[in-house]
Amino acid sequence: MHFPITRARRLRANQQIRSLVQETRLDINDFVYPIFVREGKNIKNPIKSMPGIFQFSIDEAIKEAKEICKMGIKSVILFGIPEHKDEKGSQAYDENGVIAQAILQIKMAVPDLVVIADACFCEYTSHGHCGILNKEGELLNDPTLEMLKKEAFVYAKMGADIIAPSGMIDGMVKAMRESLDDNSFYNTAIMSYSVKYSSSFYGPFRDAAESAPAFGDRKSYQMDYSNVNEAIKEAMLDVEEGADYLMVKPALSYLDVIKTIKTQFPYMPLATYNVSGEYSMIKAAAQLGWIDEKSMIKETLTSMKRAGADIIITYFAKDMVEVL
Ligand code: PBG
Repeated sequence: MHFPITRARRLRANQQIRSLVQETRLDINDFVYPIFVREGKNIKNPIKSMPGIFQFSIDEAIKEAKEICKMGIKSVILFGIPEHKDEKGSQAYDENGVIAQAILQIKMAVPDLVVIADACFCEYTSHGHCGILNKEGELLNDPTLEMLKKEAFVYAKMGADIIAPSGMIDGMVKAMRESLDDNSFYNTAIMSYSVKYSSSFYGPFRDAAESAPAFGDRKSYQMDYSNVNEAIKEAMLDVEEGADYLMVKPALSYLDVIKTIKTQFPYMPLATYNVSGEYSMIKAAAQLGWIDEKSMIKETLTSMKRAGADIIITYFAKDMVEVL
């Protein structure tokens, strides 16, 4: 048999041809921008380990939300940082608390923006873990579900479009769906952090959200990064419990996981979270002049979409508007 030499390079001849055969294209509609909201007024605190990212008071967060909406970004995910933390993280589901008020006021000020509410407890508990602990310091699953139900109800009532439970608590999607349906919030969707690994890439976020655990780690609820088959089980449970969206988190070191989940559940919209450590690495290297920042952002985000992500939660969303 004789094979002619394949002229693969014909498809790379010039920019127009390359655009014609380009398989993956980033789009502004792909991005979700995270916003950190703290109590107070006129606050815009830079986060040292995340250049360009701030903690905002609600009034400033509204300005930020208006600005990004003008830029064409269509959704945000909100994180609250309360002044007072307690054992049960009760500020997480207080209707007058910082996160409930942030959802309500941002949604009222910018109704066209899709508001996703991160639903966890680590920013609200004095111990920094993602739910209720027993005396031994172990995270209790089912009592935490009861709190998650209250949280889902409050965020939906404040107008959140999507609720995103991020605690990796067993049964969290089912519990929250029941709570939403029992209260007639049939149209409030659930984006589950289905496949969330215990990761060193969350380091800068814990500065931003002031949510580092006071002792121990999150390994008894977040996944071991050595595993991928287990990710299929986690995603399957969430699909069965009624999740509307799945998520893989972090993104960059987990492209194989993104690919696996998209292949197994092609009918589920899949988000990935391009987390704080992935952001800070690029920002730091760029500040040192060691890399071309814009090209690297574009390349890494494209790899996430190429792997199978439909939605990318990213601190680079504003940078990407410039790039595109
Ligand atoms: C939990 C939560 C975390 C992140 C998003 N939601 C932190 C954690 O699990 O410790 C991390 C996001 C990032 O690193 O950008 N509320």
